[in-house]
Amino acid sequence: MIDISLQQDQYEVVPTLVQPTLVEVLKSRVKAEMTREAQLPEVHTESIDQMLRAHLASFNPESEDAEAENAFYVADLGEVYRQHLRWKALLPRIEPFFAMKCNPDPMVMRLLASLGAGFDCASKNEIQSVLEMGVDPTRIIYANPCKQNSFVKYAYANNVRMMTFDNAEELHKIKRFHPTAQLVLRILTDDSKSLCKLGLKFGAPLDTTAFLLRTAQELGLDVIGVSFHVGSGCFDANAFGEAVIRARRVFDQAKDYGFDFKFLDVGGGFPSAHITEGITFEKVATILGSTVDALFGPDVRVIAEPGRYYVGSAFTLATQVIARRTILRNETEALVAAQSEHPAHMYYINDGMYGSFNCIMFDHQACEPKVLLKDGGYTYQQRLTSEPHGWASVWGPTCDSIDCVSPKSSLPLMETGDWLYFDNMGAYTITAASQFNGFRRSEILYTTTEPEVSLHF
Ligand SMILES: Cc1ncc(COP(=O)(O)O)c(C=O)c1O
Repeated sequence: MIDISLQQDQYEVVPTLVQPTLVEVLKSRVKAEMTREAQLPEVHTESIDQMLRAHLASFNPESEDAEAENAFYVADLGEVYRQHLRWKALLPRIEPFFAMKCNPDPMVMRLLASLGAGFDCASKNEIQSVLEMGVDPTRIIYANPCKQNSFVKYAYANNVRMMTFDNAEELHKIKRFHPTAQLVLRILTDDSKSLCKLGLKFGAPLDTTAFLLRTAQELGLDVIGVSFHVGSGCFDANAFGEAVIRARRVFDQAKDYGFDFKFLDVGGGFPSAHITEGITFEKVATILGSTVDALFGPDVRVIAEPGRYYVGSAFTLATQVIARRTILRNETEALVAAQSEHPAHMYYINDGMYGSFNCIMFDHQACEPKVLLKDGGYTYQQRLTSEPHGWASVWGPTCDSIDCVSPKSSLPLMETGDWLYFDNMGAYTITAASQFNGFRRSEILYTTTEPEVSLHF
């Protein structure tokens, strides 16, 4: 439904010679709203399997349409929805604020907004896109301890009050540009059991928190609580419990400086749904939930900033084998030393390290290719028993030799035009993809394996 009601006070007075009439303003609002609705991609209700098949079936290899053979994602919004329900069931006290840096996909964002989640934003643009969805500023935490002046001003102008800090210089900046901010002191925790050690860059050591609290007190700033991040890709659930204990110490210390903390932000680092061994969300929830309850009364509001937890397993990437090189080892021609190390076949696919697979470099991921379409046969989630597998390396499409997706994978002999797929590609993939060498970001097709999700669009 398009709401065309317009209050007089919403009718902005434009300082031009010719003022638009009310009807013109209404018309342009309806147009903008219709465009916005028209731009929403379709959300299908098929399985991932059916989505992949349908897209590949619609593709004619003889056609001139280069777009059709591009790599593409299938995003299952039902998986995001299930993760939300799981969170609510296992950590009912802790409010999730989705760390949108992980994957600011507009459909994921809309779904989470309509489910009532909050958002962890790192920049002005992120804040702006959340506000544009109609999310109340109180559902945003600006969780970047080192912020650009103009971004702080933007937060002030738009009533986004919660923001983190971990140094005194930031307090002076905030005093100047956002004196009514609700500040959250980000403390350093042990992130040695994590793939991405965020403590290298952020977090106040506990021997500095007294100084920071005193500075905030002297500046007359409102510090409401503590945040931490155990590191992204955390593989030890105990890290969460230990971090909560450290936060408690700072809560107690804050009283000496006149603060009565009522806010705890337990950060991100929660595992994606496909992690079923070692650290699991169930293990984290058991340790985190019980430690929070033991150390913080019900008057303390607790939030978290999960990123990969929500989206990691929700995106599947399909890529075409665009070229194959077979290494001829017996030839007398001297092989380049580096090539002598290669497995027998080198496959080149149409997404790579400069695109979705930047997660290999930035997020320390290992991405495993699986066969999707070979010799016209469709093999999603099938074990290939018919043919012995050999070793192959898989490469992205750019001209850079760093663009290697997998140096050694067990694959059957693939031909140009066959397809590979990669599961669990939702976190820290497309968000940081570049267009290096002129390659476009892979398109996303949406489906939901949970019918309820359709009600949210
Ligand atoms: C401040 C902050 N919060 C939350 C997250 C999300 O972490 P994860 O995806 O591991 O949950 C990050 C990731 O870098 C972060 O920097």
